[in-house]
Formats: sequence, C-alpha cells, structure tokens
Amino acid sequence: MTDRYAVTGHPIGHSKSPQIHTEFARLTQQDMVYTAIEAPLGGFAPTVDRFREQGGRGLNVTLPFKLDACAYADERSEDAELAGAANCLQFEGGRCLARNYDGVGLVRDIVHNLGHALQGRRVLLMGAGGATRGTVLAILREDPALVWIANRTADKARELAHHFHGHGASSEHLLGGGYGDIGAQRFDVVINATSASLSEQAPDLPASAYAPGCLAYDMVYGQGLTAFLQQAQRHGAGRLADGLGMLVEQAAEAFDWWRGVRPPTAGLLASMQRLVI
Ligand code: ATR
Repeated sequence: MTDRYAVTGHPIGHSKSPQIHTEFARLTQQDMVYTAIEAPLGGFAPTVDRFREQGGRGLNVTLPFKLDACAYADERSEDAELAGAANCLQFEGGRCLARNYDGVGLVRDIVHNLGHALQGRRVLLMGAGGATRGTVLAILREDPALVWIANRTADKARELAHHFHGHGASSEHLLGGGYGDIGAQRFDVVINATSASLSEQAPDLPASAYAPGCLAYDMVYGQGLTAFLQQAQRHGAGRLADGLGMLVEQAAEAFDWWRGVRPPTAGLLASMQRLVI
C-alpha cells in the first residue's frame, strides 16, 4: 500500500506543502502520496485519529493547530517541547512522535541558502508568538554573539527570553524587551516573526537597529516586499528575503525524518519565485 502523508490546518487550501512534498517524492523516487486535510476548529485530534486509522504515516501541522499537535503526541523533541508547539508528526507502532522543524528550516535557509553565518553574529528576532517560540532554540544552537527578542508587548519578549535561559542560552546571549529598549544596538540579522506583515504593517523598530548590509528576513512569504522589508531596505539592509526558503527547508527536514532521505531543495526553491533581493 502506498504510504500516506498530509498537511493539516484551518484553512489549508493555500498550503504549498502538497506541491513541495510531491516534488520531493518524485526527486527521491519515494512511493508515497501527500494531500491537504482541513481539520475543523476544535477538531484536530479526531481528524488525526481518522487519518491514522486510514493508514496515515505522518502529518505536517500548520496554523492554528501547532499547540494541539504538541499536546497530542506521546513523545516530543526538545524543539517541540520548549516551543510547546509541533509542526511535524510521525506515527510509529501506535505511538505519535512530534518535532518542530521551523527553527531548523529557518537556520538552514539563512546559513546554507542565503550564505549568512549566524555564529558570532548579532540577531534580532521580532515577535513573541509561536513563530518566535519555534525558532529561538535553533538560532541559539548556531552560537550567535547575541539574540535579542523584541516585541510590541515587551513583557512577552522578556518572559520568552527567560523561558529559554538554561537551555543553552546565557542571559548575556539572549535578551528580551520592547522595541524602545533596543537603544542604539545594531544587528547583523533582523528576522520578522510577527504577524504584522499580514496587515501591511512593520514593527516599530529604530532605524539604527539595521547594521549596514545586514540581512532582513521576513518569515511570511507570497506577500511581496512587505512593510518590514521596505523599512529594512530604507534603513540600510543589504539583503532581503521572504520565508519561502524556510518553508521548503522545514519540509525537507520532515521528509528526511519520515523517509530517511534528504531531498535536494535548490531547484524547487528556484522554481517557486521566492523573494530575495
Ligand atoms: P504566531 O503564533 O503566528 O507568532 P501570535 O502568537 O498571534 O502569532 O503572535 C503574533 C506576534 O506578532 C506577536 O508577537 C504580536 O505582538 P504582541 O505580542 O504585542 O501582540 C506581533 N504583532 C502582530 N501585529 C503587530 C504589529 N502591527 N506590530 C508589531 N508586532 C505585531
């Protein structure tokens, strides 16, 4: 029987995951099908149960179910445990294993695809919601000089920094606060993990935060040059990128976990019109 995988979320019609995984399966000659399943709000667990009964082997999970996915699992990776959220499930012998590949996908895109090493660099991560929770640990593992979490609601950023202290992050290397607390600090990499781009707004970041030539990375994709990326361009960023590479790279990690083979991503990414300037 052909192995079955899917992505689930609400809504799910816009998802690029079926296209990405179907191409990965073709490239690596894996016998599998990958579909999109819309779960009703409040109906994540029964939807997953049904998929498993039908022989489903693994699921990608997107908004708004990443917390439910983490809670549903029997075992969680450190990334999923600390984020309290999972974007990938695997079903094995009656057990459900959860991982969160958002951070690995982001880091792989920045370091490998865009060629910006994070080691020893100063990183600003904007937002204190799920997108930030899911990516902090992977960024810290690259050994940056500083990770500053900035958020409109400053206390949420401080709490998040505190949450990750003790997990490889010292309080000199991981700080949190409001945009106004950044002062005159400059960053080599500025990442937008807020949902501001979806309402055509940019976080209220001081112009001096962008070190000349820095990388500005927006986790959203398909929104063109977002208000954040325009702001970054005006204030001296040397490189701008949207989050399509993060999506493709987290998919490749999931595929590797499920199938034991890492698909090539460069050709697919080149054909998907990501925004890189
Ligand atoms: P997600 O799980 O996708 O990260 P979330 O938990 O709702 O979504 O978090 C959204 C994040 O975007 C929050 O950090 C939010 O800031 P607040 O905590 O202050 O609400 C941030 N955000 C949303 N709109 C924003 C805007 N216009 N400017 C700055 N930050 C914004």
